[in-house]
Amino acid sequence: MSSRYDRYMNLLKPLSPDDATQGKVYIETYGCQMNFNDSEVVLSILQKEGYRYTGRMEEADVILANTCSIRDNAEQRIRGRIEQFAFQKKKRRGVLVGILGCMAERLKEELLENATVDLVAGPDSYRRLPELLAQCRVEGKGIDTLLSRDETYADITPVRLDNNGVNAFISIMRGCNNVCSYCVVPYTRGAERSRDQASIVREACQLYENGYREVTLLGQNVDSYRWVGPSQGEASEVVDFADLLEKVASVHPRLRVRFSTSYPSDISDKLLDVMAAHDNICRHIHLPVQSGSDRILEKMRRKYDRAWYLERVRTIREKIPGCGLTTDVIAGFCSETEADHRDTLSLMEEVGFDSAFMFQYSQRPGTLAARRYPDDVPPEVKTRRLNEIIALQMRKSEERYAALAGSIQTVLVEGPAKRGEGFLCGRASNYMMCVFPGKGHQPGDYVRIKITSTTPATLIGEVVE
Ligand code: 5AD
Ligand code: SF4
Repeated sequence: MSSRYDRYMNLLKPLSPDDATQGKVYIETYGCQMNFNDSEVVLSILQKEGYRYTGRMEEADVILANTCSIRDNAEQRIRGRIEQFAFQKKKRRGVLVGILGCMAERLKEELLENATVDLVAGPDSYRRLPELLAQCRVEGKGIDTLLSRDETYADITPVRLDNNGVNAFISIMRGCNNVCSYCVVPYTRGAERSRDQASIVREACQLYENGYREVTLLGQNVDSYRWVGPSQGEASEVVDFADLLEKVASVHPRLRVRFSTSYPSDISDKLLDVMAAHDNICRHIHLPVQSGSDRILEKMRRKYDRAWYLERVRTIREKIPGCGLTTDVIAGFCSETEADHRDTLSLMEEVGFDSAFMFQYSQRPGTLAARRYPDDVPPEVKTRRLNEIIALQMRKSEERYAALAGSIQTVLVEGPAKRGEGFLCGRASNYMMCVFPGKGHQPGDYVRIKITSTTPATLIGEVVE
């Protein structure tokens, strides 16, 4: 640790009445699951340096927002929140406000122009947070937005937030090497790098020993996971995503494994075969299609076409019967015509996704699409197309859920359901949420549920004795 850092840390001490603590940290997270896991890494780093976590902003000494830049409305929401943080700073002297994550990376110094913001740290700078916070106390502001080629936080055990003690995220890689023309992520999260496979398996083992029963392996494109390195001091081993999934699935038969996100041109038959061979690998694939039009897919620089996508869906359903399938769709990308839009609708009709995340195209500064193509679909057309996409998906979701009425599903209990007293909830292997009256079951139990009725987003059932 640098001597400058020690100096800052020493200066910090008199600020805190309790020598054992540097103060309380509150963190808000926006965006993807990856970001949620990053917040857990951030807390782990800060706790090691004497900070304590608080779930209450009103009592925090440090307020952090881990931000998302994926669409303009995500950034607008965060700007609104910064105004709320300003209010906290007015009420209590000495409170520090930090902006972390994708928006920090995208806007850098510009964020510091806002008087409320003291600290700006990009996704690869979290190890420096204690030092940056100390610097803020002394110099007023702190910033680090350097992206790294190799940072994976492999050795950091995340502090589990929002903890039901049943499911946990494990980041297996960072960054993204795809160049989807609409997407800001390669710019905010940098180049793709895979995390040491042994550290991933170790984390899964620890989670199982600590009572967790489901892990979700996270990456922007898990199918391009690749680790080359020595294994247990032996010769070099090449581990691709299918190999990694198999290793994690072998940790314990009662530890369920999920993963997200898959990329249509990279999802391999080998992976599907590994899924089919292990009952504890959940039968669910999130496979973003984005558009059903070949012309638009090409402009988006997705590396597959409609026929390829449909072939992958067929193979998934052949190899893994009953596999849950979900997707992401963008409405109103540059130059999208009514015919292109109808191609998206017909693809969704043909596949029948269980559910989907559906968005209007939002131009992101600096991306290829922003530089090359005008954002020329009028807002009211985007909205109308999105509404048509949502209406179709609602109908499909209803059908897909209803088709499971009468079936028996193995559900991993997560905790009480919102539905009311005595109801529990948990997910079926295919990712559908299931609600049922509990019979003394605890979070982490596996229960067999007979599905008696359904909604477009929930299976409702009862325990099979
Ligand atoms: N506008 C709208 N949606 C976007 N996504 C990514 N970038 C944009 C954008 N500029 C969507 C994609 C991706 C999901 C995470 O967010 O559908 O799969
Ligand atoms: Fe948002 Fe993408 Fe960053 Fe996740 S990686 S926080 S979705 S911009």
